[in-house]
Order: sequence, then C-alpha cells, then structure tokens
Amino acid sequence: MASGYLSRLMSTPEAQPENTMEAIVSLAKRRGFVFQSSEIYGGFNGFFDYGPLGVELKKNIRDCWWNDMVRRRDDVVGIETSIIMHPKVWEASGHVAGFTDPLVDCKVSKNRYRADQLFWSPVVVDGNVVGYVSALESEKTTEELQAAAESLKRKKAIQGTLAPVVAKDFTEASAEQVSLIPSPATGNPDLTPPRSFNMMFQTNVGAMTDASSVAYLRPETAQGMFVDFKNVVDTNRVKLPFGIAQIGKSFRNEITPRNFIFRSREFEQMEMEYFIHEDADWDKCHKEWIEWCRQWLLSIGLPESHLSLYAHPKEKLAFYSRGTVDIMFKYPFGVQELWGIAARGSYDLTQHANASGKPQELFDEASKKKFVPHVIEPAVGVDRIFLAVLAAGYAEEDVTDEKGNVEKRTVLRLSPRIAPVKVAILPLLKNKEILTNRAKALYTKLKRNYAVQYDDGGAIGKRYRRQDEAGTPWCVTIDFDTIEKPGDTFTLRERDSMKQTRVTETELFALLAEQVY
Ligand code: GAP
Repeated sequence: MASGYLSRLMSTPEAQPENTMEAIVSLAKRRGFVFQSSEIYGGFNGFFDYGPLGVELKKNIRDCWWNDMVRRRDDVVGIETSIIMHPKVWEASGHVAGFTDPLVDCKVSKNRYRADQLFWSPVVVDGNVVGYVSALESEKTTEELQAAAESLKRKKAIQGTLAPVVAKDFTEASAEQVSLIPSPATGNPDLTPPRSFNMMFQTNVGAMTDASSVAYLRPETAQGMFVDFKNVVDTNRVKLPFGIAQIGKSFRNEITPRNFIFRSREFEQMEMEYFIHEDADWDKCHKEWIEWCRQWLLSIGLPESHLSLYAHPKEKLAFYSRGTVDIMFKYPFGVQELWGIAARGSYDLTQHANASGKPQELFDEASKKKFVPHVIEPAVGVDRIFLAVLAAGYAEEDVTDEKGNVEKRTVLRLSPRIAPVKVAILPLLKNKEILTNRAKALYTKLKRNYAVQYDDGGAIGKRYRRQDEAGTPWCVTIDFDTIEKPGDTFTLRERDSMKQTRVTETELFALLAEQVY
C-alpha cells in the first residue's frame, strides 16, 4: 500500500522543535484540530473535541481504514453495534470482574495514580537501604529516581557509595515498602496499597436507578462483533476465514488520562475480529495481520523508522490469549502502543455461548463436526493514529523568500490520503474577476469529489503558510498566465518541497486520483 511518494512525507528530527508535544498541542488548538472538551468551564480531564480540520483528518483516517479493511477486501464485512449493550455481555466477556487497573491514592494530596505507572526504588548506600524514592512513568523515570536518590543521600548527609537505582513499579512493593515509599505529590509516605479499580463507566437504563438497571458504556467495540457473530453468519454469505469490522466510540474511566489524546476516557476504536477454523495455522494468520497493519500505517504516511513491534511475554499474556503483538510508535513522549494484534483463541465466542445458552458454532463439512471458530483481532485507536500522524508530520523549517529574507514555516507533512484539505485554490488577486471567476469554476468542480478550500485573503506567501500548517498537500494559484497564455494552466505548489510547476486541470485531477484513495 505504501508508495514512494508517501514515504517521503516525514519530518526529519532536525526539523522538529525540542518540545514537539507542546508545539503540536498549540497548533491543534490554534488551527482547530483539537480542543479541550467543555473548555469554557475549565475543561474536562480525559475528554476532547475535534474542530473543523480535526474532524476531517479523523474522518479520513476512518475512511481509509474502512475502505482498505472492509470495502477493498472480499473476506471482511462491517457492522455497527450499540454502545450500551446488555450488562450480561460484560459479565460473560470478563470485563465486570477483570477490566481493572491497580489504583493508588495519595491520602494527603488526594491524587490518584496507576500503580503500574508509579515507580520507586530503594536508596542503597554501601549495601544498606537508607530510604525510598518515587517517580511517575516517563521517558526519564530512571534518571529522576537517580537524582532523587542522590538528593536524599545529600539531605541525610550519609557518607558512602550510592548504588544505581533499580526502578520497580508500585505493584511490586511489599506491604512494608508501601508504608515507606514517598508519594510523588507530597514527598512523604502517604500512599495507599494498590486496589483494583474497574474502568467501565456505569449508567442506569430506564426510570429506576437500582442495581437491576445498571449498564455500562462499552470499553471496547470488539464484544459487538462476538455477540452478533451468528447474526452475521446467518444473514451473509460468509465463509471461514472471514472478519467482522467495526468503528466506534469506546469509554474507559482511565485513572490517569494523559499525553493529550493518547490516553483519554472517550475515544474511538477500529477493530476487526478475523474468524478462523479451530485447526487453522493461527500463528501464520496472526503474523499476516501484523504485517497488514504495519503496511497500512505506512500507507497513511507514518514513517517506518517510527514503528516497531513488541511481543507480549508469554507469562504476561491474558489467560485466553495465545499471543499478542503491539505495533509501537515513537511518540514525542516515548515509544508507546499504537495497535494491538491479539490471537484470542475461541475464548469470547465460548464465553458468550455459555452465558447466553446459544451455541456459537459452525459446521465443518469435512469432519462433519461442529466447532467454535478462533479469532485474530487487530484493534487500534483512531485518536492514537491521529496523534501519531501529527507527531510524525510536524516540522518547523527556516525558509528563504524571494527577497532573501529567512523566516520560519510550520508545516504538517500529512499524507494526501488523510490530509483534511487536499487542495487550496488561490486566485492571485482577490479583486480581479477574470482570475476569481476561473478560480471559482475550478473550486466548484473539485469540491464534488475532494475537500478543497478557496482562499483569497492576503499575500500569496501568507496563504501558502496557512495551508502548510493545515497540512494541505497542494496549492493551486490562478494567475495571469492562466488567463493570458494558451493551455489554461495553473501554478501547482507542492507543500513539502515548495516546488512550483504548471499543470492543466486534467493533470490536476489525475494527480488527485492517484494520490487520494
Ligand atoms: N478489543 C481489544 C482492545 O480493546 P486494547 O489494547 O485495550 O484492546 C485497543 O485497545 C487499542 O485502542 C489500543 O491499541 C489503542 O490504540 C486504543 N486505546 C485503548 N485505550 C485507549 C485510550 N484510553 N485512549 C485512546 N486510545 C485507546
């Protein structure tokens, strides 16, 4: 899926500012990609709104995935299931009992932490433990712990050799250590032992608000595919192996939503359950899907250098999982999970068969036996892809104008497949009807198929910069040559190289048809 053109669309590290995250958040707000939810009331932690450019970018990510995953394949069908499902779904799936994170409270500051994101180390001088230090998970956790250990040694005026810190997460602390490890908020040992916190949002359905009316906002879209498995099989001519895909909102009461839209409480997932025969080579199928997902990320412009694979260690796998591999992305705040591809065996269908009393089996013509299909599940968050394309595409460059002045340009190198605006139509002068009429005619024609913008405000250089920041791959200028010279050509300016060429309308449409798919 990745073309040579797309793999050029990445920013070099030199073109990225030191604090890329800050720059991205600021651009996202300034240009209307992402806003804090309920901002006029001070915001609402873990929730975000997408502005006019943001919704277009998000929709393009979704559409590309849907086209490639569902429409362009013969073995995957799509569905859309409800966000609030029967509460028994979440009992059967194991979410009511087990969809938990370990929560730690600071008794004094009232801050809450995820125990597996709160790190600590004993401070060891000449082989003796002289205290404890703590730090929150970040790229620099070990350095912060080391600095805290040195500071503690200095403060207590202890002589001797300080051993290097050994970072452990809070779930690994003994009861005695829990009572000695300082809270990151107060610096004193004010932390509670970790306890399980269920991340599902609860609500009540109907007029009664008692235990019988409790329901949940779905924490994943996947269960919709399992619960509707038989409906899809009975109403479509699907044959194994085949997949059921869905895009939709999911909700998790994350203890520590963070890193902008990376971990939020309301987010969107694109998941696909690929059903295979119980005797099929699941490992081969798993590997094929991992590679499919990787290629797809390249096809929307993510640089290969930022992608890596992480295989979950066998001893840490969920009991039903045969193998899980995450595609990791190098975000500005560290390498983090972007896309999880899990081999889930027959766990989910079996659970729902047992809980509902409705068998979830298929008939094998060859062996004349019924069996429960197994599943490979690629599951990704739209918002995480959104942040990845912003992070990889953001650049600040020094450019020299025609007069030799050096100025800074901010550019978002988004793939034409997902860029919110594909082409900006710029009449050279706003008040020359001969130019604006031609520009409007082209704009109207392009608008039928593509997201285009008409921009006649300000100097042409300023207009180019505006479009660079919005990630628009091409600007088309209608100038006097368009009108006066034969051929009806326009100036096509390419965002990344800033090169200008002359093209006809036919050539422009051909370029778009090739690059926007
Ligand atoms: N059905 C399997 C499942 O939901 P997951 O690893 O919990 O697996 C899949 O979630 C993907 O959803 C993740 O790889 C990530 O891209 C996205 N995701 C999960 N939690 C998220 C959150 N709090 N905010 C944004 N995206 C999230």
